[in-house]
Amino acid sequence: MCGIVGYIGKQPVKRILLEGLKRLEYRGYDSAGLTVYAQEGFQLAKTVGRVANLTKAAAKSTFPGTLGISHTRWATHGGVTDANAHPHISSDGKIALVHNGVIENYADMKRFLTTKGYTFSSETDTEALCNLIAYHYAKETEGTPDRTRFFTAVRKSLLHVEGTYGIAVLCADCPDEMVGARKGSPLILGVGTGEYLLASDVAAIVTHTSNVVYLKDDEVVHLTREGFQVMTTAEYGVEAKIDQVTWTVEDAELGDFAHYMLKEIFDQPASLENAMRGRFSDDGSTAKFGGLNLTPHELRQVDRIVFTACGTAWHACLVAEYLIEKFARIPVEVEYASEFRYRNAPLDKNTLVFVVSQSGETIDTLAALREAQRKGYRCLAITNVVGSTIARESDGGIYQHAGPEIGVASTKAFTSQILIAAMLALYLGRMRDLSYADGVEIVKALKEAPGHVKKIVAQAEHIRSIAAKYAQHADFLFLGRQAMFPIALEGALKLKEISYIHAEGYPAAEMKHGPIALISEQCPSVFFASSGEILQKVVSNIQEVKARRGKVILIHTEDCALPDGLADDTIVIPAAHDAALPVLATVPVQLLSYYIALERGCDVDKPRNLAKSVTVE
Ligand code: F6R
Repeated sequence: MCGIVGYIGKQPVKRILLEGLKRLEYRGYDSAGLTVYAQEGFQLAKTVGRVANLTKAAAKSTFPGTLGISHTRWATHGGVTDANAHPHISSDGKIALVHNGVIENYADMKRFLTTKGYTFSSETDTEALCNLIAYHYAKETEGTPDRTRFFTAVRKSLLHVEGTYGIAVLCADCPDEMVGARKGSPLILGVGTGEYLLASDVAAIVTHTSNVVYLKDDEVVHLTREGFQVMTTAEYGVEAKIDQVTWTVEDAELGDFAHYMLKEIFDQPASLENAMRGRFSDDGSTAKFGGLNLTPHELRQVDRIVFTACGTAWHACLVAEYLIEKFARIPVEVEYASEFRYRNAPLDKNTLVFVVSQSGETIDTLAALREAQRKGYRCLAITNVVGSTIARESDGGIYQHAGPEIGVASTKAFTSQILIAAMLALYLGRMRDLSYADGVEIVKALKEAPGHVKKIVAQAEHIRSIAAKYAQHADFLFLGRQAMFPIALEGALKLKEISYIHAEGYPAAEMKHGPIALISEQCPSVFFASSGEILQKVVSNIQEVKARRGKVILIHTEDCALPDGLADDTIVIPAAHDAALPVLATVPVQLLSYYIALERGCDVDKPRNLAKSVTVE
């Protein structure tokens, strides 16, 4: 949430900042701003709305500098106004700051700073930190060279912060310096030749360099055009490790697609292939993972697994629960990360904890990870973003390799998570009672999934025509049984977040215990059905809806024997093994939600009130 881009180098900075912000806009899009260092002081442009508005506002002046910072905002403290947009400038004009996170003790800071003569022109928590840095900068002893003064002032100020931050800071007296720091919010340093960037995400860096330093909590970096130095806030020097980013600029481009969400839905055959690449055993009967950091012997001791995550990733955990219990016979519990971290859940010694997070930065998931580790549990992560905080802090894990996910509504990250969950279930199952023959069958089914997904996305036009019929309804139910229940939850979440239609997901049979009261011609139901022992039960649930004049959209596998005229509309997906079915069933609801949102004229990639990578509690 909130995107930061800072640059120091030799190139004109305005274009670099605006392009970087455009790439980070999915992190927040309430307002945006930039400031460029100029001899006469900071040149500033800020506006409410999208980066496109800022681009127009910034076109009014030249902004000739080569040092600047910028921000795209997801409001926490203070409404969406120009005054609350970042960058903030201290009341003495010395310090400019952009910030992602929450300064919890900002009110105390403000009170203190007011007694020292500093004034405030916004309602933000950030402005308090900006003025605090100015205060420490002014207080630094005379005679200390300016360089040390600015860097030291930032470090000293951060020692007083309660809360989270990723920041980039400029000082009016220091034309050749920028300072960045992080705690709880991501900040990545891009290392070029004679130029450096700070950004909340590599997406804003890859156009300039693939060399990055993933800053850690409590680290502060001092940048000049000649180099950089990393220290902790407590003044310890840090040896920064330069990593290589594997994502390319093209990975983060829209290409011919109208929206990132659509692009990412169509990316899924490739992202699923990437999740599986090199991860099956030579005999084709099980999966293998390089980064679990647990021996087979240790894994066999595990007698319970707790999965924890937020939002869509939490739905992926529910699929994992179903698959691991079915194939590996290990009891699984799924916890909302935001709840898990605050309750004292009893875990026993052979419990393994898995955290699941596309971004690897979601603050609640990170806090749940830290809490489980504090209790001494082995914690593994399933994450998409290499070098993210969760990836670094977990004891091991599995990278999704899904490529950058930029659409705010998660799509390809979800299907890659549930495919990995199936591979994990297979791996753990084969260590226990799952037979060689069953293992071979599952591997075959998973390998077929990308091809099946290609066939489903090829039905986009058909799904679009169904979307057009139902787009004006105000309520939807999504109903599925067993592993289709989490897919029903995911379908409902996708629809509500991008089209603002009220939607609920339920286990299909649960409908009779309350939600059936909602059924009417005005409230369509999306059902999931596959062949097998419970098909007839699902058919009965559909008939119960039809008997109450409810409209039904049925997503079913091609091998289902169904009564004629059962549903109003159908989407047929390839028949598949239970291990692969959740992936296949997801794709039609992603497309349905996308096209319904489009019909309603919604901004699919930037739904209202939302932002990707939730780094505030
Ligand atoms: C919904 C969505 C969110 C995220 C959630 C967790 O489409 O994207 O619900 O799934 O905020 O995000 P990560 O996976 O980055 O931890």
